[in-house]
Amino acid sequence: MAEILDGIRIRDEIQAELKPRVERLARAARAPGLAVILVGNNPASEIYVRNKVKACETLGIRSEKLTPPDTIATDELIAIIESLNAREDVDGILVQLPLPAHVDTRRVLEAVDPDKDVDGFHPLNLGRLVSGRPGLRPCTPAGILELLKRYRIPIAGRDAVVVGRSDIVGKPVALLLMHEHATVTICHSRTSNLAEVCRRADLLVAAIGRAAMLTADYIRQGAVVIDVGINRISDRGQAEAIFGHDPEKMAEFDRKGSLLVGDVHPRDVARCASAYTPVPGGVGPLTIAMLMANTVQAAERRLGVCSASG
Ligand code: GUN
Repeated sequence: MAEILDGIRIRDEIQAELKPRVERLARAARAPGLAVILVGNNPASEIYVRNKVKACETLGIRSEKLTPPDTIATDELIAIIESLNAREDVDGILVQLPLPAHVDTRRVLEAVDPDKDVDGFHPLNLGRLVSGRPGLRPCTPAGILELLKRYRIPIAGRDAVVVGRSDIVGKPVALLLMHEHATVTICHSRTSNLAEVCRRADLLVAAIGRAAMLTADYIRQGAVVIDVGINRISDRGQAEAIFGHDPEKMAEFDRKGSLLVGDVHPRDVARCASAYTPVPGGVGPLTIAMLMANTVQAAERRLGVCSASG
């Protein structure tokens, strides 16, 4: 029976450890402050930002949401970021992605003060990640490593295969696994014999954004599988094709009109893997927990308060 790697439990553990650090900061100086910029009205981004603000409230982190319209120009957005960079009470700045097509995302991300870059997307922090120096790490990859460590899943010497080469997940998680001494292969849409490469993995990370694409053919018996995908399906035929084996899930589809599914086939991963992250409830909750961790870390550095308890 495969072990389910419970992201909600690990998120709660991480947040419980952060709480005394936030309280210590509040006693010694002030509560940490996070500014979130949400441009326009992308419904998925609105949900993500709402959850980030809620997590701040739970922990006692002061949050501030800025919501410029989707007509904003790149230079205007950069001016907002520069004013947040200059503010003493803001420790973390997060620009929710994706930005509207006319906005130059690269220039915007480069405008964030690297010391306040709690998403870890600034080139300076990415360079620190590449060279293994301390710095703010991208949240989803950092959450995956945290999950593996807390479940004591060995990484050193294992064959890790990462499917997906995005700047936000694929590339940084591959680097973090390599720093932990895994032998890492990065696959993408043009990889030939993808299933064959994936079957070599002791540790398979799926971050491609295609519902249930990795089936039994891609999973070595006994592999550990980390599913980063969050795909919403609202077509009943597609839901039936993926969840036909699971009457409870189909009942949920009929109640809600849609279901979330990862990049890995839920039936096959339960059959083939030794341990895996479910969707929902696996990697998703860890992204926000690591955002909170990065915000606390940035505040401790800026305020000169060390993280030891007491
Ligand atoms: N959009 C999707 N994932 C992320 C993330 O981790 N951070 C930000 N800022 N935007 C995102």
